[in-house]
Amino acid sequence: MAMLASIWIVLLSVTIQGGDGQSVQMDPIKSGFVGSQVELRCIFQNSNPPVKISQVTWQKFVNGTKQNVAIANPSLGVSVLPPFKERVTFKQAAVRHRTPSLEDTTIMFSNLKLSDEAAYICEYTTFPAGNRENMVNLTVFAKPVTHMTLTTPTIVARPQKRKMTVATCQSANGKPPSVIQWETTLKGESTFQETRNVNGTVTVRSNYVVVPGRETHKQKLTCVVTYRGDRIKNSVVLNVQYEPEVTIEGFDDNWYLNRKDVSLTCNADANPPVTVYQWKLLNGSLPSTVEIRNNSLIFKGPVTYELAGTYVCDATNSIGTRTGLVEVNVTEFPNNPSPWDRNVKQDEHNAGAVIGGAVGGVVLLAAAATLLFLFLRRRQRTFKGDYSTKKHVFGNGYSKAGGLPANHPIPKNLQYPDDSDDEKKPAQIGVSGGFEASERDFDGDAEDLKRPYFTVDEGESRDYDERTLAFQYDPEPEIADDMVSQTDGSVISKKEWYV
Ligand SMILES: *[C@@H]1O[C@H](CO)[C@@H](O)[C@H](O)[C@H]1NC(C)=O
Ligand SMILES: *[C@@H]1O[C@H](CO)[C@@H](O)[C@H](O)[C@H]1NC(C)=O
Ligand SMILES: *[C@@H]1O[C@H](CO)[C@@H](O)[C@H](O)[C@H]1NC(C)=O
Ligand SMILES: *[C@@H]1O[C@H](CO)[C@@H](O)[C@H](O)[C@H]1NC(C)=O
Ligand SMILES: *[C@@H]1O[C@H](CO)[C@@H](O)[C@H](O)[C@H]1NC(C)=O
Ligand SMILES: *[C@@H]1O[C@H](CO)[C@@H](O)[C@H](O)[C@H]1NC(C)=O
Repeated sequence: MAMLASIWIVLLSVTIQGGDGQSVQMDPIKSGFVGSQVELRCIFQNSNPPVKISQVTWQKFVNGTKQNVAIANPSLGVSVLPPFKERVTFKQAAVRHRTPSLEDTTIMFSNLKLSDEAAYICEYTTFPAGNRENMVNLTVFAKPVTHMTLTTPTIVARPQKRKMTVATCQSANGKPPSVIQWETTLKGESTFQETRNVNGTVTVRSNYVVVPGRETHKQKLTCVVTYRGDRIKNSVVLNVQYEPEVTIEGFDDNWYLNRKDVSLTCNADANPPVTVYQWKLLNGSLPSTVEIRNNSLIFKGPVTYELAGTYVCDATNSIGTRTGLVEVNVTEFPNNPSPWDRNVKQDEHNAGAVIGGAVGGVVLLAAAATLLFLFLRRRQRTFKGDYSTKKHVFGNGYSKAGGLPANHPIPKNLQYPDDSDDEKKPAQIGVSGGFEASERDFDGDAEDLKRPYFTVDEGESRDYDERTLAFQYDPEPEIADDMVSQTDGSVISKKEWYV
């Protein structure tokens, strides 16, 4: 390199020293792709008085050595030397004449090869001025071949949760090298590898490594290859096979004696689909009144205490078998009798709105209380009558709110529909709020969220341990407490005493 540089400086100084008029004009750099054609310009600037051109020589300059490419001589004609004979020609037809005109000795270089990358010198031999020369650096690019492959068309998620390469992206034999990036929402890591070929090209490879699982199925993975500013994108969608994820639907924590038409359904998310469902009752055999229909247990006849127990469903696909279970309790009486409450349970999303409504109601009550307070203060100023009247007004207006705190029942003890008046609402909101908070981590539809099911991971533990989801009953008394102090007639009466 240092040697080349010093030669370059020498060459430069030669050109500059020819300041008495003659110079060789060339592009400093030129580039082309493998197989393409480039034009290497070389123009001789003569001066007055003109010098005589004795010969023009094109040379390839690489590794500190020079190799002749083509020669043009005014009396002898032109000569292109092997191995350039087939691929190099002078651009100007005049140069090829018997008595060539040698002012423009630009050459056309076709069917470029990687080995053509070099500096090319165009040297003019003149009389009486001597040699004049200049050089062009020719760079040859190679377009890479890019492709992306999935490791296997279908990836199998093993319970061992082992990392594996799911896709490979390769950009082969590029010059300059490509850059590979990944675009995906899939959690994973990428590895990169670069291989330099003897011909100067570089192959870059990248693997995308993930732990395949249910959540990686159908995820999109995009490889972005950037080559000289161009971006090429390749995408694949993962096809991940995984063992069943089992949930049991149907037990609503309200199987009471003589209830009709109850059933349990074993739902499994699996790829490929479940082929076999198997039901068992822990520590017992399935009741004789039960009918197995596909993935459901249909209980014929009314509910009896004999139905209680832990029901287990094994779901099997080609990847494995997993188990879901539900603990069925039978009660003497229905659990959640209020139709209002049942509505909440049916649509979890309603719960938010209902809570919002309740909060709004509290705000409204507070505003009304404030208004009343102001109104009473006014009345007190204008007419200093007895307070019992005002208290009477308060008592009437706020009997409902005042009744709240005293009356938030624990849901287990909820009464029958006949006493389900407005006063019960806040307590029941608390219940649905409790469901929401305790079971939010489960996916599945809203209906599922209310079922006390869970799934046992066979890979981890075979025994059905106590991962039961307990319903959390939260009577949520704070709102009521607030309201008490806000709306308690006596409190406000006290304030009035201060006025
Ligand atoms: C230049 O030198 C390198 C090693 O220094 C060699 O591999 C290469 O073939 C040489 N190129 C030419 C055109 O001689
Ligand atoms: C041309 O290439 C030589 C090495 O072959 C290098 O030293 C020089 O800086 C290059 N010139 C330009 C203009 O890129
Ligand atoms: C460069 O070398 C690689 C590996 O030997 C080869 O596959 C590729 O075709 C070569 N590229 C060119 C442009 O000759
Ligand atoms: C159920 O059976 C298992 C063994 O099959 C036993 O260990 C367990 O104590 C039994 N449980 C009940 C409640 O009978
Ligand atoms: C359930 O089984 C019945 C036959 O008992 C069959 O006709 C039906 O297609 C099955 N349904 C599903 C979803 O497998
Ligand atoms: C269901 O019954 C079992 C005993 O059979 C009891 O341990 C469990 O707490 C009960 N679950 C509910 C939600 O009542």
